[in-house]
Amino acid sequence: MRRIPSARDMQSQALEWRASGKRIAFVPTMGYLHEGHLRLVDEAKRRADIVVMSIYVNPTQFGPLEDFEKYPRDLERDAAMAEARGVDCLFIPDSADIYPPGHQTFVTVEDLSRGLCGVFRPGHFRGVATVVAALFLIVQPHVAVFGEKDYQQLKVIQRMALDLHMPVEVVGLPTVREATGLAMSSRNAYLSEAEKLEALKLGRAILLAQDLARGGEKRVAVIAEKGRDLLAEGGDLRIQYAEIVDAETLASLEVLDKPARLILAVYINKKRLIDNGPL
Ligand code: PAJ
Repeated sequence: MRRIPSARDMQSQALEWRASGKRIAFVPTMGYLHEGHLRLVDEAKRRADIVVMSIYVNPTQFGPLEDFEKYPRDLERDAAMAEARGVDCLFIPDSADIYPPGHQTFVTVEDLSRGLCGVFRPGHFRGVATVVAALFLIVQPHVAVFGEKDYQQLKVIQRMALDLHMPVEVVGLPTVREATGLAMSSRNAYLSEAEKLEALKLGRAILLAQDLARGGEKRVAVIAEKGRDLLAEGGDLRIQYAEIVDAETLASLEVLDKPARLILAVYINKKRLIDNGPL
């Protein structure tokens, strides 16, 4: 596996691969890899000749009071995992490379960024869209693979690629969970065993909502309230939001008459967790 730290070298390598007819698949990450990231690699391998993974903890998507400084990092462990799973090239830029001195260009995906996490993390999706646009221009992928774990992010990136005519297919894959049902996340490293148990309520609330929907319940308010009740049981978890939205536009829904998504964000002690599932 090659490691490329420079954006310029990464871009010329990618252009060379393209010129020789190779298909490039791209898996952008912030590292501290887990099985969820590695499934994206499996899919990338199925779809292309060359798999590039980036590891870059992007400062512009973190708010001033968020966890940028303490976000878990372990490059050597990540590199070993990526190589074992068949990543061909690891792109590990630094901030001076991604954001050249004097940087002032940002990408904003307007409506999709406004609700849900956008309310509580102002500027987050602007940071995500900006870095992913830059990474796409550097890595020149034919296809890029993202997780549904970050559902709003996936929709924002798909919209950006469409609106800006980026020649890349943006693929979303289902959330990978622990055997317990807990959605895998680099930030699970912050959780104690007791907090992980509490976090199982997220997956259970999604299953409950899916059961209700399958049973014919169409009233979004009824399903959302039962989900919130389950989350609130015991009082150890604080709901930031629990919303059922149109799966494409992320607009609020009153009736389940089209593909929908239950999207959750909660705090357990000071730790913020997100999860979502299709209805
Ligand atoms: P990160 O949180 O490292 O996630 C990288 C990719 O892995 C994202 O597409 C995310 O949705 C996916 N992923 C995370 N947990 C997953 C799980 N349990 N199952 C399936 N996929 C999962 O998302 C980011 O980094 C950043 O915002 C980034 C896109 C790299 C831009 O900085």
